Amino acid sequence: MTAAYPYEVHDYDVVVVGAGGAGLRATLGMAEQGLRTACVTKVFPTRSHTVAAQGGIAASLSNMGPDNWQWHMYDTVKGSDWLGDTDAMEYLAREAPAAVYELEHYGVPFSRTEEGKIYQRPFGGHTTQFGEGPPVQRTCAAADRTGHAILHTLYGQSLKNNAEFYIEYFALDLIITDGRCTGVVCWKLDDGTIHVFNAKMTVLATGGYGRAYFSATSAHTCTGDGGGMVARAGLPLQDMEFVQFHPTGIYGSGCLITEGARGEGGYLTNSKGERFMERYAPTYKDLASRDVVSRCMTIEIREGRGVGAEADHIHLHLNHLPPATLHERLPGISESAKIFAGVDVTKEPIPVLPTVHYNMGGIPTNYWGEVLNPTPGNPDAIFPGLMAVGEAGCASVHGANRLGSNSLIDLVVFGRAAAIKAGEIVNPKERNAPVNSVEVDKALSRFDALRHAKGSIPTADLRLEMQKTMQADAAVFRTDKTLAEGVVKMTRVAEKMADLKVTDRSLVWNSDLMETLELTNLMPNALATIVAAEARKESRGAHAHEDYPNRDDENWRVHSLATVDGAKVTLSSRPVHLDPLTRHEDGGIDLKKIAPKARVY
Ligand code: FUM
Repeated sequence: MTAAYPYEVHDYDVVVVGAGGAGLRATLGMAEQGLRTACVTKVFPTRSHTVAAQGGIAASLSNMGPDNWQWHMYDTVKGSDWLGDTDAMEYLAREAPAAVYELEHYGVPFSRTEEGKIYQRPFGGHTTQFGEGPPVQRTCAAADRTGHAILHTLYGQSLKNNAEFYIEYFALDLIITDGRCTGVVCWKLDDGTIHVFNAKMTVLATGGYGRAYFSATSAHTCTGDGGGMVARAGLPLQDMEFVQFHPTGIYGSGCLITEGARGEGGYLTNSKGERFMERYAPTYKDLASRDVVSRCMTIEIREGRGVGAEADHIHLHLNHLPPATLHERLPGISESAKIFAGVDVTKEPIPVLPTVHYNMGGIPTNYWGEVLNPTPGNPDAIFPGLMAVGEAGCASVHGANRLGSNSLIDLVVFGRAAAIKAGEIVNPKERNAPVNSVEVDKALSRFDALRHAKGSIPTADLRLEMQKTMQADAAVFRTDKTLAEGVVKMTRVAEKMADLKVTDRSLVWNSDLMETLELTNLMPNALATIVAAEARKESRGAHAHEDYPNRDDENWRVHSLATVDGAKVTLSSRPVHLDPLTRHEDGGIDLKKIAPKARVY
C-alpha cells in the first residue's frame, strides 16, 4: 500500500473490464456458472458503445430464405481476405444461430416477419452458395437499434444472475504476478478512491480504439484501454494495420448510417447521379464488402466525382423507399440524418463519407478468448489469467476486414465462449493469491506521475496531433511514402507524451486526468497500427497499399504482432490457423471451398 494512495481490495473469481456486448455476455456467462464475477466499467453499461450498433447481428437462421453456417463461414473467410483463423471463423458461424436464439430467449425485442420469426436483412458481403448465389438475408435486426436492444437485455440478465457491477471505475493497469495476470487496479471516478480487483481471471472487454483517428463512428470512450494495458504489460498486439472504414458515416459529424440502409434498398451516387457501385462490383453492387465500397467511394471522390461544394463526399439515397419502410426498419438513422445532416430521408439523399468504424486487430487470443503470448517455439502460447473478447480482442475471426453484422455476433459468441472456458479452468474453491503490492504500487506511481504532469503540451492538443496524423497517413489508401512519413510523425507524437501537461490535480470527476490516461492507451494502439501498416508490403482487406496493389499469400498470409515500448514498436508474426474444427467428412467445412482466390463481389 502506498502512503499517497490507500486502496481497497476486492477478491473475485473473475473480473471483467468493460460492459459492452462482449463484456456483458462474458459477465452473464461467468455468473451463470457460479463464478463470483465483478464487471468494472468506466461508463454506465447501457451507455457502452455497443448501444450504437445499428443494423444487426449475423446468423444463418434461414428465416427469409435458404442459408447455412457453411455459407456464413465462407463469406467470413472471404470477407477477411483469407487472414482470419479458420477454427475461430468456423466456431463463429456454427455457434451464431444458437447465440441469437439465446438472445431472443433472454428477451431481445427483435423485429418480426409476418409469421413471427426473427426478421433478417441483407448486409454487405453476406451471400449464398459459397459466394456464387444471390445476397442472403442473414442479419437479424431490432429495427436499426439492435445493439441498443442487446445491451439492455444483457445488462438486465447479468443483474438477474447476481453479477456485481462497479460502474464509473477506470481501469489503470493489469497486475502481473510471476507471468500471469492476477487482476487490475482501478480509479473510482466519482470519489477518487483506488480499488484493486484481485482475481483468478481478468477479462478485457474494453472495445476498440477508433478515437485514435480524427473522424470515427466510435464513441469518445473508444480509447483502446485494454490494448494500452496489454502493451504496458509487455504483451503484443495483433493485426493492428487493419482498420475498417465504414462507407456511410455522415459527412461532417462521422455519425453512423447503418449498412442496413443499403440492405433495405438504399444506394450510393456520385456527382453525375450515377450508381457507381454497379461498375466496381457488378454482382453485389452497394452490398459488396465494406472495404470494397469505401475504396470505390474514395476513388470516385479522388477522380472528381464527389458531391457537394467541395466535391468531397457521396450521396446515399433512401428517398425512393416507402416512408412506412423507413419508419419501421430505419427509424434511428432517419432521426440521425435529420439531426446531424439536416436531411429528411424521405425527400433527400444523405451526405456520407467513409469513416473509421472498427479495429480488426487487437489483443491476440484463441477462440476461447484466452490471451496469447506467442513465442518462437509456440505461436499459440497462452498468457495465463487473462482473456480478451469483443473488439478489444483479435480471435482472429475478421482477419483483414470484418463483414457488417459479424461484430455483434462476435461479441456474444466469444463472450459466451470465454465464460465456458473460465468455467473449466477457474476453481471457485481455491483461495486467491495475495495482492501483488509491488505491481499495484507501480501502477499507482504511473497514475500519480500523470496526475502531476507538468510538461508543456495539453492532452487535447497532443491527442489532436495523433488523430490528424493517423487520419492523413493511415487512411483508406496507403502508400510507402505516406506510411513512412506517418511512422516518423507518430513516433515524434508518442515521444511528446513525456511532455504532457495536466492542469487539474484533483481525484474526483477529473476529466483532464481521465483523458490523459485514455491518451496513454490510444497512443500504443495508434503507433502499432501505423508501424505494422508500413511493414506490410501487400494489399489485403482494409489495408489498401497502392505500391503493392495485390494480395501476397506467399509472403504475407501471416498475423503481424507489434510489441510497443514507449515510442518504440518491435514487429514479429505468427501463422494463420488453416485447420478447421471439423472436416467435411464429419459435417464440417470443405477446405477446397474456402481455399484462397481472387476476392471479387
Ligand atoms: O452498419 C451497421 O449497422 C454496422 C454494423 C456493424 O458494424 O456490424
